[in-house]
Amino acid sequence: MVTSKSMQEKYRRRHRTKVDEVGRGHIIKNFFSEDILEIFREYSHMNSLKDNSYNEFSRTWITKFEKNVGHLIDVRAKDMLAESLLLFARKKISSFINKDIVPVASFYRIYGPDCKLDWHTDLTEYEWSATICMGYDAPECWPIYLEKKPIYLEAGDALIYEGSKYEHGRFPFKGSWQIQLFLHYREVIK
Ligand SMILES: [Fe+2]
Repeated sequence: MVTSKSMQEKYRRRHRTKVDEVGRGHIIKNFFSEDILEIFREYSHMNSLKDNSYNEFSRTWITKFEKNVGHLIDVRAKDMLAESLLLFARKKISSFINKDIVPVASFYRIYGPDCKLDWHTDLTEYEWSATICMGYDAPECWPIYLEKKPIYLEAGDALIYEGSKYEHGRFPFKGSWQIQLFLHYREVIK
């Protein structure tokens, strides 16, 4: 039982998380190594070629469409490599936010030219999330906005955030592709 004000302050300081220190989100630079990024880029590229076909007449790729995003090069939920990274990254994220978490879901998108992300909050069961830039080809870094604040992620960088609480989105993409991996977790209440 925490009683006095100074004790409460001490308790709060001891139990504060990295996310408390910076507000709603925090970047972990080089969250994944270059090896993991390269494997994921090759793998997701091959995956997209496997399913997406080239239209000889219009000389364009037939892509996947999401109403709130636009024409994607690819989007996949429960992909086995992404699911493996969901398990692999759990410990690192858990120690970073100083909370016990369990995996809930993973997916990834390969954004194409003019893709955007409408302002939204995530499903309530996605309590703690990481959005990780796995690589891109664009004239400049494409920020995600968390509560109107731009956040710039280079390849390998992760944003750890509470996506079900705080609104986020992206303005239209000016590059040719960007791979973004999403890892979602739920907090374990002891
Ligand atoms: Fe989201």
